Amino acid sequence: MHKTITIDGQEVPFEAGQTIMDAAISADIYIPHLCHNPDYQPHGSCKLCTVKVNGRNCSACTFPAMEGQDIQNHSADLEQDRLRITQMLFVEGNHFCPSCEKTGNCQLQAVAYYLKMHDNHFPHFFANREMDASHPEILIDHNRCIFCNLCVRASQEKDNKNVFAISGRGINKRLIINSKSGQLKDSDIDINDCAAHICPTGAILIKGTGYQVPIGQRIYDQQKIDEVSLAEESKDHG
Ligand code: FES
Repeated sequence: MHKTITIDGQEVPFEAGQTIMDAAISADIYIPHLCHNPDYQPHGSCKLCTVKVNGRNCSACTFPAMEGQDIQNHSADLEQDRLRITQMLFVEGNHFCPSCEKTGNCQLQAVAYYLKMHDNHFPHFFANREMDASHPEILIDHNRCIFCNLCVRASQEKDNKNVFAISGRGINKRLIINSKSGQLKDSDIDINDCAAHICPTGAILIKGTGYQVPIGQRIYDQQKIDEVSLAEESKDHG
């Protein structure tokens, strides 16, 4: 007999070892997320995937599915929390979508649209963050980093390197580069590394490719993030 959880009243089967997020993706249920990517170890840092499990808030990407859990994914409260988290990400960095090369391909922007975010709600920090354009092929704009840790995990788990780390706390938190100078050009990153292509925002970009696909024809210009995410993630992991 299948073990099951219930998500918004729908019975969802799961296998031992799966998280709530894994089970939801297998059942074609979208739980908003930014730091989660099924190809990498869950990190549980963005909290966008917060669901209520038997009445308590939990991160769906890290919380194990267990028999009989009654999970709420869509409710006015949860959507409001997710909206506020996303607004905080926007004011904490410098995300100016109309002038960003990643517009239309950016998960942060797409999640904001999905959550019907119309303004920042909070005062903007206008953080003073530098760029690293030192590498001939890869650019880092720290203004757009949301500290999802995906580049850190990709470098370690797939590329067998250790190019990135997150350092500091709060407003001083930064993505740092493992090289003597602290610059990307002196690290051992390669343009073919997974870490160079995993960024969900426009923080890590491949130079010279920014406008190859015209604005208006990009991924999230055509489809909402729930459809894109389920199509990609359930195909690979369903
Ligand atoms: S997606 Fe679960 S905490 Fe970020």
